[in-house]
Amino acid sequence: MATILIKSPTIVTATATFEADILIEGEKIAALGPALSAPGAQVIDASGKLALPGGVDPHTHFNLPMFGTVSSDDHYTGHKAAAFGGVTTALDFASHEPGALAESVAAWHARADALAAIDFGFHMNITRFDPQTAAEIPSLPGLGITSLKVFSAYNGRLRLGDGEIFQVMRLAKASGLLTMLHAENGDVIDILVAEALAAGNTSPEWHAHTRPAWGAVEATLRGIALAAETGAPLYVVHMNAGGEVDQLAYGRQRGLPVMGETCPPYLFFTVDHMRRPDGAKWVCSPPMRSAADNQRLWQGLSEGTIQTIGTDHCPFFFDGSQPILYEGQAVAIPGKELGQDLFTKIPNGLPGVGDRLPILWTYGVRAGRMSANQFVALTSTNPARIFGLYPRKGALLPGSDADIVLWDPDLRISYGVNCRRAGAHHRTDYNLYEGWEVVGLPEKVFLRGRLIVDGEQWLGRPGQGQYLFRSSGEVL
Ligand code: URP
Ligand code: ZN
Ligand code: ZN
Repeated sequence: MATILIKSPTIVTATATFEADILIEGEKIAALGPALSAPGAQVIDASGKLALPGGVDPHTHFNLPMFGTVSSDDHYTGHKAAAFGGVTTALDFASHEPGALAESVAAWHARADALAAIDFGFHMNITRFDPQTAAEIPSLPGLGITSLKVFSAYNGRLRLGDGEIFQVMRLAKASGLLTMLHAENGDVIDILVAEALAAGNTSPEWHAHTRPAWGAVEATLRGIALAAETGAPLYVVHMNAGGEVDQLAYGRQRGLPVMGETCPPYLFFTVDHMRRPDGAKWVCSPPMRSAADNQRLWQGLSEGTIQTIGTDHCPFFFDGSQPILYEGQAVAIPGKELGQDLFTKIPNGLPGVGDRLPILWTYGVRAGRMSANQFVALTSTNPARIFGLYPRKGALLPGSDADIVLWDPDLRISYGVNCRRAGAHHRTDYNLYEGWEVVGLPEKVFLRGRLIVDGEQWLGRPGQGQYLFRSSGEVL
């Protein structure tokens, strides 16, 4: 059992910042304190560096079949990119296939287990509500799954009716499961899409115009109302519209068990990016909104209305006809070019799992929009608590997994210019933050005591990531 002593970092947790050494024994943190000694231990001098709990990304989509193609990171390439960005745990979504829920979960294990390079868990998508699904929802915690996702959009594919969502939430509450909601108005979207196509409006920005912010706002309130009516906790995923934050605040002020997540693109980009010639790069659902929405989301984070920042990482190539080199192999996967003539055919989703921490550190913490402790809370500790992983994950405590990021707060890079760090490892041909200056990046990343990223060096391997059996989470 390897013993590692990390000397003199500044420890940053969700609630405190202090100087201490960290002793790792095997996969766990054994001790934390001043002037620790451990004869025979490997000593790492971390003076001038910060030590953070490994990032927990609560929202990713690896190897997800969609739009006649597949998201271009699988559970190895996506996990590797995550690790370079300081993330040691990622949760993704098992698709609801025909047959038993347990078969859907087994099918997702078949995609993930042999490839996983960081620790991982699954949420369960519930995209069909029938007597079999109703009977099987209580079995999910026995499979290590304590959260499920429902959709109020994607009519005819993923959407459930309001009454069905109501019944799912009642069952979820009875089994200690958290309901996650994709909040948009599927009926309105379908009408607006048909009208846009009939009028010959086919460019990427029409993806945003046909998915109005008010639909997200009222669907969020609908979800909150269902939480009130069922008493079930609710987590609104990928919050994108300022009005959603207002609705969430309304529910929380009334003591309802409702929480929210946003994602970095909704903090930085607007529909204007979708008007660019390469606007397809920003096509995801829900879409980019306005600068006022960006601002309200930032405010929602700082006032505590929103609890987490995930990525909704779901990358596609911008031009999947042109191969890129990935670990020495030429790889090309059909992507956004599928919709070059029609916005409805652009695969929905953005890369981001490796970008989240460096971008938020630079443009959140360094820009004075959040403290370093809030940064840790939003990107690691809160997701771990909400999704039943704390204090094994999201914490630097004796007994926690030794998932530790040694963060260099002074390291400065320009994204996309020979950048071999963070998001540059996504298996796709573009990055949303190309050319942005980033100050502050992971220097070393430990997964359960094993060094998996050392500067620009990848020391990890497929299959080292463990599936996480999760408990019921907390309502924050
Ligand atoms: O465009 C997106 N976000 N694709 C992933 C699926 C989802 O709804 O989160
Ligand atoms: Zn969604
Ligand atoms: Zn998603």
